[in-house]
Amino acid sequence: MSRALVIAVDGPAAAGKGTLARRLADALGLPYLDTGLLYRAVGRRMLDAGLDPAAQPADEQARRVTPEDLKRGDLRVPEVDRAASLVAAQQAVRAILVDVQRDFARAAGGVLDGRDIGTVIFPDAQVKLFITASPAARARRRWEQLATDRDAPDREAQIARVEAELVARDAADAGRAVAPLKAAVDAVVIDTDHMTAEQVLAEALRVVRVRADALGTV
Ligand code: CDP
Ligand code: CDP
Repeated sequence: MSRALVIAVDGPAAAGKGTLARRLADALGLPYLDTGLLYRAVGRRMLDAGLDPAAQPADEQARRVTPEDLKRGDLRVPEVDRAASLVAAQQAVRAILVDVQRDFARAAGGVLDGRDIGTVIFPDAQVKLFITASPAARARRRWEQLATDRDAPDREAQIARVEAELVARDAADAGRAVAPLKAAVDAVVIDTDHMTAEQVLAEALRVVRVRADALGTV
């Protein structure tokens, strides 16, 4: 019997990983897990407990993460972006979250998006995608997702601030000693700068079909 299909979607912040991974999962009838939410939930817990994610161990909070935590509405705010990236650099935190992620896809496979899915969590995933785009394009996408006033007079300055934060977080994620952000050697890199989300999905589905043919699973 062939192994359940696992699709790893990695890449820098706001590249469109989640959007693609959710659509791929829908199209292929696979479960979907946004692994960034796990680190965000740990970061959120640290802040709520008055602990400093840059200086204090977060493993205790990582053990306490529940499925309810992942549904909280306050996980996508700038302070949690930073806290998530800081706790994600702690080896003990990652060690706790590895099992959660592997167990998720054990039975029925899945599409998982994050930073280290193809390199650490599922190094034997049948399909690995690395989704990227320039900092400028990613900052605009993230700003458009979160903007409360799209006609704000200081709109370009706001986008520039988002870009600076994304670049700083990517540098921290790519520069850390444990599970750094990088494309797996066998990942297919999709540079989405001039692509719509629909075009990225079509390209990803093409990659999945080619891989499935090669593996003889379809
Ligand atoms: O998960 P990640 O942080 O990589 O990105 P996301 O939350 O999926 O956000 C991507 C945003 O960019 C969404 O609002 C998408 O509609 C948009 N977008 C995209 O995902 N892919 C493109 N090729 C163009 C725009
Ligand atoms: O949506 P966005 O791409 O901005 O971030 P996210 O995917 O929600 O991840 C938030 C943070 O969690 C990242 O900046 C990483 O530091 C960390 N993370 C990680 O280390 N490994 C993962 N598999 C997923 C997220």
